[in-house]
Amino acid sequence: MQARGPLMIEHRLIERMIAVIEQALTEAEQTRSIDPYFIDQAVDFIRIYADRTHHGKEEDILFRDLRKKNLSDEDLRLMNELMDEHVFGRQTTAALVEANTRYRGGDQSALADIVSRLKTLISFYPKHIQKEDKVFFPASRAYFSLEEDQAMLAEFYEFDQKMIHEKYKKEVEDLEKE
Ligand SMILES: [Fe+2]
Ligand SMILES: [Fe+2]
Repeated sequence: MQARGPLMIEHRLIERMIAVIEQALTEAEQTRSIDPYFIDQAVDFIRIYADRTHHGKEEDILFRDLRKKNLSDEDLRLMNELMDEHVFGRQTTAALVEANTRYRGGDQSALADIVSRLKTLISFYPKHIQKEDKVFFPASRAYFSLEEDQAMLAEFYEFDQKMIHEKYKKEVEDLEKE
């Protein structure tokens, strides 16, 4: 498998979660309510899977190695744009968490904020994924030899191995603080 293989497989799961969120949004608009626990689950997916595990491999391994290459202006511009979008995703998720806390506390007006943040996330992610799958990943591949590509793939697997430990270590640490 090429290094971009696992990243593209992860994109497919992110798309499925986006479809789930889309469905929840339709229901929220009909019932004028949302389950705060569902938002917790969506946030956990976005933060741990889409951001830390997936964007983590892109930023810490793929983009890191690309920075050592002589990128064309267009590829460099696109890489910076993708990183900005990762940052935007994190900011939107933080705002979603904040709105969910208010909603849980009984603030009905927070529902509109939750809906708007979720809409932002589900509209930006598919475009981001499309740009990577169709344009950026094929363009990136051209900068690497087969050996370099396979070394990245191996590093991706190593990176993934740390994720579950990191998630639960943090969970215990957070609980210890309570
Ligand atoms: Fe990305
Ligand atoms: Fe991605």
